[in-house]
Amino acid sequence: MNIAIIGTGYVGLPSGIGFAKLGHNVTCVDINKSKIHSLQNGILPIYENNIEQLFLEVVNENLTFTTSYSCINEADIVILAVGTPQSNNSEKADLKYIFEAINEICKNLRDKNKYFILATKSTVPVGTGDKIEQIVHKINPNIEVVSLPEFLREGYALEDFYNPDRVIIGSNSDKASKAIKELYSHIDSDKILITTRKSAELIKYASNSFLAMKIHFINEIADFCEKSGANIGDVALGIGLDSRIGNKFLNVGPGFGGSCFPKDTLAMLGMAKELGVGVSLIETTIKGNNDRFKKIANNIKDMLKDIDNPKIGILGLAFKNGTDDCRQSPAIEIIKEFIKNYQNINVYDPRAINNAKGILNDNVNYTNSIYECANECDLLVILTEWDEFKDIDFLKLKDCIKVKKIYDTRNIINFNEAKKYGFDVINIGVKN
Ligand SMILES: NC(=O)c1ccc[n+]([C@@H]2O[C@H](COP(=O)([O-])OP(=O)(O)OC[C@H]3O[C@@H](n4cnc5c(N)ncnc54)[C@H](O)[C@@H]3O)[C@@H](O)[C@H]2O)c1
Repeated sequence: MNIAIIGTGYVGLPSGIGFAKLGHNVTCVDINKSKIHSLQNGILPIYENNIEQLFLEVVNENLTFTTSYSCINEADIVILAVGTPQSNNSEKADLKYIFEAINEICKNLRDKNKYFILATKSTVPVGTGDKIEQIVHKINPNIEVVSLPEFLREGYALEDFYNPDRVIIGSNSDKASKAIKELYSHIDSDKILITTRKSAELIKYASNSFLAMKIHFINEIADFCEKSGANIGDVALGIGLDSRIGNKFLNVGPGFGGSCFPKDTLAMLGMAKELGVGVSLIETTIKGNNDRFKKIANNIKDMLKDIDNPKIGILGLAFKNGTDDCRQSPAIEIIKEFIKNYQNINVYDPRAINNAKGILNDNVNYTNSIYECANECDLLVILTEWDEFKDIDFLKLKDCIKVKKIYDTRNIINFNEAKKYGFDVINIGVKN
């Protein structure tokens, strides 16, 4: 098939690579000229696990990059994968990129009768597919508008492309559903669910809201453990063994972040308010998660309160491991909470330094390793669960001047090993 993907970010790019590797002719379109220029030259603008090898195999063969929308004229399927960030002044999703892209599609369409499918992978509020349809049908009534929500996890984008838990196709047309099923012929048919367009749009928001609630839930149970003396590691394991609950998303941490959960829970709340529906669990989750950033920042301030002009080492800036994405990263939100109080903040992340620089500017010192970051620090704080941090060499860390205390907000380091080398480790969800 000929596929045009509009928007070449964390969703559009791995999808483009995946479809190209399956043998389709894929053209990725983006308005960001420098992004397209680097992709045309074989340089990936994002970090994503295991993507580079596949990218190099297909780039300039059956995967091409352009800023021009003219490729839509040859496409059997046009996939929208532009961003849908939170609006500046409300909880709602900002759909300006979606409608700008729709406008460009309409402007660039040469044959006004050509049949093709316009599939929305971007996360969009319920009813957006209807609005898109109204606009494009004024130009060409043969375009079939489908909702095709994306569920990939950053850091595992290709793994999820080839082996997703499910593919949801929101369409009222048998012809369009059949074509999208064919596009996903590499997936078992029992993992493909066809629904109405509105249901598909809601499945995406409801899924993300549920996962966000699960994270917030376990973090509240961790708070309970800290006061009661129970141990969150045992408690999460015990809860997760119940197959009705499942063991995923029961890892404690500094709160959820990233480019999806914060904005999607807010958008869900905004939609519910408009419809007059109560979503109190989601509302509590949003507030609780924001409070958690403050709580972790206050814990850090508390640990440093008796030290004059303390120096802090922060390990982790990305919102989770496996990605360079810092959008709404808990690490960044927590640093922002105490940046005014301290002059000496070292930071280190294996992949996300460049993106973090765009947010934190020169308010922190960027370092090149765990040990450079830790050196001369009064407190070392782990905020992202990178494997590299799980494997800290405590013997080497011991050589770093001053550092004695580690605040592990992801509970990832080997507690007993660290103690053996004389480090004072503070975990989440245990009475320290
Ligand atoms: N990132 C994720 O893990 C993830 C997972 C599932 C769903 N989603 C959803 O997928 C969508 C895309 O997310 P993302 O993280 O890939 O965003 P992104 O910001 O990484 O990428 C979006 C891209 O679209 C481009 N763009 C904007 N307007 C355009 C236009 N008019 N024409 C062409 N390109 C345009 C931008 O330049 C950018 O490169 C969002 O709706 C998001 O909620 C994201």
